Amino acid sequence: MKLFTSIFYLIILLASLLSYCLLKKEKRKQKPTAKLPPGSMGWPFIGETLQMYSQDPNIFFASKQKRYGDIFKTRILGYPCVMLASPEAARFVLVTQPQLFKPTYPKSKEKLIGPSALFFHQGDYHARMRKLVQSSFSPEASRKVITDIERIAISSLESWSNGQVINTFLEMKKFAFEVGVLSIFGQLEKKYTEELKENYCILEKGYNCFPTKLPGTAYYKALKARRRLNRIIGEIVQERKEKKMSATNLLGQLLNYKGEMGNTLSDEQIVDNIIGVLFAAQDTTASVLTWILKYLHDDPKLLDLVKEEQMAICESENGEKQALTWSKTRQMPLTYRVILESLRKASIISFTFREATVDVEYEGYRIPKGWKVMPLFRNIHHNPEYFTDPENFDPFRFENPPKPNTYMPFGNGTHACPGNELAKVEMLVLLHHMLIKYRWELVGSSNLVQYSPFPIPEHGLRARFVKDI
Ligand code: HEM
Ligand SMILES: *[C@@H]1O[C@H](CO)[C@@H](O)[C@H](O)[C@H]1NC(C)=O
Repeated sequence: MKLFTSIFYLIILLASLLSYCLLKKEKRKQKPTAKLPPGSMGWPFIGETLQMYSQDPNIFFASKQKRYGDIFKTRILGYPCVMLASPEAARFVLVTQPQLFKPTYPKSKEKLIGPSALFFHQGDYHARMRKLVQSSFSPEASRKVITDIERIAISSLESWSNGQVINTFLEMKKFAFEVGVLSIFGQLEKKYTEELKENYCILEKGYNCFPTKLPGTAYYKALKARRRLNRIIGEIVQERKEKKMSATNLLGQLLNYKGEMGNTLSDEQIVDNIIGVLFAAQDTTASVLTWILKYLHDDPKLLDLVKEEQMAICESENGEKQALTWSKTRQMPLTYRVILESLRKASIISFTFREATVDVEYEGYRIPKGWKVMPLFRNIHHNPEYFTDPENFDPFRFENPPKPNTYMPFGNGTHACPGNELAKVEMLVLLHHMLIKYRWELVGSSNLVQYSPFPIPEHGLRARFVKDI
């Protein structure tokens, strides 16, 4: 009996030894040679999110980069992430190997914008939608709407100069929204514009709130506003279909779309892409414009030079007041460089997110499938290796073009911003009229930054506009 148990135990022991060895061998076979990037992951679920949000995110990223180098890992909102702070790494993810990394957004946000909006997609559908968006916001198309943009700019400025203190960011948002609506729909009945504005505002308020469907919460209200937007845009779509207008604006392009099999886009695809573009166009442009006003205000010498440049454009009209043209907007080199430098210094899109669709190896490091990958635009834009004295606001540095992939305020590669031409033109038009006719003072000016979630000057930069003459 005793012998029996001994043999039994021996067999168990041998069996477990054997399976241990086999497993180990198996593991060794599977184990890839590359190691994970350096960095700390923090607590399993919350990771380092609290640290990132509790301190200035710039300091968070910069201190990590200092400690670990250009590639490091961390955990944000429960997700393991690899952060990339070199131009080469950003190029790898965005430009040369985009098929290895897909766009990634929380489901709750996707639902508010609309899951068919192009920036949630990659591959075929993305490429086709992108083509439509690109052609509606090309320099060609922006050229045609420049007079309308000018009209919006003039009336916005007029409304700011009634002696009241304005929140610059909020006013810039209204301006960017109207330009967005114009380039998406072309001329649109006032009734529709107002309805869009009202519901879009509610949508936006829920975007950065906790996503719960409990009645009364901001997210719940946003979902309801999103459904109303479906109906409103649906009505506009119906009208346009009946009128059979051919148009270069985005809605016209979406309506004219014919796929390879002759298929057209569903109403849902049309609405989701329209809301998506409005969303991508408004706060981005508005926060950059707000920063431009702050930077110009803080540098009176530069402000005089930029004013001079804009006055010269008026004078070249031999006294006659004429509308701005596309070619005139190409004759504003200093103003243009102020825009470029503001985009760099403020880096309002500090980074972007992708997700590895397979195990990826980069520079000897392993990026496991499912991990998030974040190219850190701001760190690259503030690296003294690429921009000397990076904290200094110096538009003249753009007299020499930056090296490839060191300057990406509009991203790069398959998802690069298709609205960048429109954004620059609308900023130039607004700045032109502002600089030739108005002065502005800041009220309670500070150097504090607020996150909206894009960085903007504290309180949206309160200012008072005064019309000269
Ligand atoms: C100064 C203002 C703007 C800035 C700084 C900006 C920046 C960016 C960046 C960095 C991306 C790429 C994001 C990524 O790769 O994950 C992007 C994408 C996009 N932007 Fe802009 N943008 C601006 C204005 C606009 C405007 C005015 C429009 C619309 C007319 C627009 C429409 C889009 C769209 C539709 C995408 C998604 C493209 C895709 O996924 O293929 N943006 N933008
Ligand atoms: C985007 O990437 C390409 C290829 O690396 C490069 O030539 C181009 O300059 C990049 N664009 C920007 C804005 O850096």
